[in-house]
Amino acid sequence: MNKNKANTMYKLIAFDAYGTLFDVYSVGMLANEIFPGSGLDLALMWRDRQIEYTRLVTISDPSADGSKYYLPFWDLTLLSLRYVCKRMHLPLDGDSENRLMAEYAQLHAFEDSLSVLKKIKEKGIATAILSNGNKRMLSAVVEINGLKPYLDRLVTVEEARVFKTSPHSYNLLIKEFAIRKEEILFVSSNAWDVLGASWFGFDVFWVNRQSHPFEEIGNRPNYEGKSLSEVLGVV
Ligand code: LAC
Repeated sequence: MNKNKANTMYKLIAFDAYGTLFDVYSVGMLANEIFPGSGLDLALMWRDRQIEYTRLVTISDPSADGSKYYLPFWDLTLLSLRYVCKRMHLPLDGDSENRLMAEYAQLHAFEDSLSVLKKIKEKGIATAILSNGNKRMLSAVVEINGLKPYLDRLVTVEEARVFKTSPHSYNLLIKEFAIRKEEILFVSSNAWDVLGASWFGFDVFWVNRQSHPFEEIGNRPNYEGKSLSEVLGVV
């Protein structure tokens, strides 16, 4: 943790979903079961391609009313899986495709996700998710992990029809909660998401579970920790 601002009073703590509240590790494990020896590479390339597609859609038409190339995150996730399997010469049959996508729909939350949300709510601070995920896939994973009672809103970029790191995506939080940027702390395990949110004007907390280096561009995050629980030290 760094740059602790003793007098900070955040009114909203907003979390990224995939990789931050929900663990995507099991996707790699299943991929390795289906394609022994290739699953971990597949999972990494799949994630990269998924995010690359979101950026392609967003940058190619950054209109305020959304990109005409917008597709729900679920669809981009499926299409990127198909692409990566072709690229890696892995035979993806219908059954394997369904299993891998189903895994995405029922990811486990990290062990401290629920307790962290609960404790933030107990302090009287609002909580939300801001995710690239479309409402349907996000609601499902929130519901099965029992997080729903501890989240004031599920905000998804579906409403803006552009993905993070477009300013329109982060601005959804301001619109939903009618509060100032300075009153929001944004939490993500994705360094690029932390950077985008910081450039937008939020204070940011980077959950760096794997001790990765931060990006070489932009400022360091306001706060950094090895687990979600460390967020409790700054609210
Ligand atoms: C999300 C991805 C980027 O939930 O992790 O928005």
